[in-house]
Amino acid sequence: MNRILITSALPYANGNIHLGHLAGAYLPADIYARFMRLMGEEVLYICASDEHGVAINISAENENTTPKQIIDKYHKANLEAFAKFGMSFDFYSRTSNKMHHANALDFFETLLKKGYLVEKTTEQFYDKQASMFLPDRYVEGICPECGYDKARGDQCDKCGAYYDQINLKNPVSVVSNTTPIVRETTHWYLRLSIFQEFLEAYIDSCSEAWKDNVIQQAKGWLKMGLEDRAITRDLTWGVSIENAKGIDKDKAKGKVLYVWFDAVLGYITATMEWAKITSEKGIGINKNDWEKWWKDENTKHIAFIGKDNIVFHSIMLPAIEMAYGNFVMPHNIPANEFLNLEGQKFSKSRNWSIDLQDFIADFNTTQAVDSLRYTLGTILPENKDADFTWKDFQSKTNNELAAILGNFINRTLQFAKKNMDGKVPPLPEKYAKLQDILNDIVQCYSVYKKEKSVEEIKNECETALSTEISKNDFALFWSFVSGINKIIESYKKFRIKEAIAETMNLARAANKYFNDEEPWKTIKTDNIDACNKTIYLCCQAVYTLSILFAPIIPYTSYKIQDFFGANTIRGSANNGLKTINYIKDLSNFKLASGTEIIKPIILFSQIEDKIIEEQISKLG
Ligand code: MF3
Ligand code: ZN
Repeated sequence: MNRILITSALPYANGNIHLGHLAGAYLPADIYARFMRLMGEEVLYICASDEHGVAINISAENENTTPKQIIDKYHKANLEAFAKFGMSFDFYSRTSNKMHHANALDFFETLLKKGYLVEKTTEQFYDKQASMFLPDRYVEGICPECGYDKARGDQCDKCGAYYDQINLKNPVSVVSNTTPIVRETTHWYLRLSIFQEFLEAYIDSCSEAWKDNVIQQAKGWLKMGLEDRAITRDLTWGVSIENAKGIDKDKAKGKVLYVWFDAVLGYITATMEWAKITSEKGIGINKNDWEKWWKDENTKHIAFIGKDNIVFHSIMLPAIEMAYGNFVMPHNIPANEFLNLEGQKFSKSRNWSIDLQDFIADFNTTQAVDSLRYTLGTILPENKDADFTWKDFQSKTNNELAAILGNFINRTLQFAKKNMDGKVPPLPEKYAKLQDILNDIVQCYSVYKKEKSVEEIKNECETALSTEISKNDFALFWSFVSGINKIIESYKKFRIKEAIAETMNLARAANKYFNDEEPWKTIKTDNIDACNKTIYLCCQAVYTLSILFAPIIPYTSYKIQDFFGANTIRGSANNGLKTINYIKDLSNFKLASGTEIIKPIILFSQIEDKIIEEQISKLG
């Protein structure tokens, strides 16, 4: 039994979410969360808006308003868009909340008390014209590592280097466009070097399970040797440390926590808030329950992020957790590469971007949302950068969702509507053994999967059952049994893209079964038994597909289950409570004969060229 705590990188509340973000850290996490809930696991999926940091200040300046107004605007906009996109967060918070400030400050004070922080006076860039220090994004220059000329004060977007701003070459103030001077200031540094050995061991212990890109990056940092990092900044916007216990008030004046220090703790605070708020609902959640999600060694924290966040999750967060004591460290960090758009990098300034909000405004149907989820899901940048194109969106919708999945469901249900009194047909007596045979195949697969190849198991099964089951029926059963096993394995390894491809393969197999069985012929001959069996099994396949597709296209899944008036199972948020293992349960024929079929509607209609051309012309 697993307790799985899932987080997605907290998005900055200074702009709309775009498709690149979705493919990086949100959609894969949501699909994974939904699938694991369907597997009967305890799952809690947590996220929040990241509302501090210079990124917010700069947006406020650009939009001529205050940071507070910026975060209120974009927190709301993103929360609403996420909901429409079908994100199944159990809780979505904000780092500007009081509770978060208190929690982040508690971490600061505790680390200070334990001797993991050290006060240092060093030189920082100072803008004389604007009378301010220039932390992080307030200064740009040449990356000391790779020479990229738009590197930021704390991090290089090009090569991922993470350095002390004073090492930046040719610094320029983003505020006044002048060259800053250097001036002394006092900050608190996290003594990362203390954790060098501990982190080496931690990363080593993860190197089997984690993705290569994550291990390589983490090892790269460790190889350079960890250095102390400033975790405070000269800013007014953020978690103020002015009243922190254990430091000199005068020195702390005008200083806040570095955004990354507070943001990674946002996962923890959001979980605390979830427990507090949910405990008041009387559904059996206790206000201290956040602790079991963060302090129990049986909890697996899976942190979905984009590749630019790796150092903060593989080095900084574990170091902070270790320093504070008693927290579970990330169990896996399935960081994705980047998504491009029509062959180019996303860029809001060049208008080369698709905001989720714009997509929803233009399309505004659950079909379109599911098409987007599916299309992005099939191209997730799991191992290398990927490219979203409108043509691909069109072709995945028309040629896969409509032509394969939609078509199979529609022809099955229409056939039953027309020929079987609008009901799931009976399974004729002479086919009564099919459920047992299916169970045998499931059993056989699970017993032999460790010792034999899939081909071998298949051949043995097929030979053993050859007198009891027809070739077509066996082919259908085999596709589903082996397919579901592959899907589970893929999800467990965070190969979401592969799991999705495999799921669509099952719709293909079902379609092929319908073709091979030719029920339109058997209904006309005297073979009504065979025809009933075909449609009975096709109905079961429709239901099974509705569950397997639920994590990927939840709205469509709901519509499919609704055809049978069935309860809707979508792996939705469930406050960390577990349900039955619906995936395992799929080996039972779930639809009883005689179940009424409600008039099927078209699940995916074709997307015309015109729509696609319109969207393409909006870019640039
Ligand atoms: N806001 C950051 C970004 O968009 C991600 C923060 S992840 C967290 O890149 F863990 F620090 F919260
Ligand atoms: Zn660089």
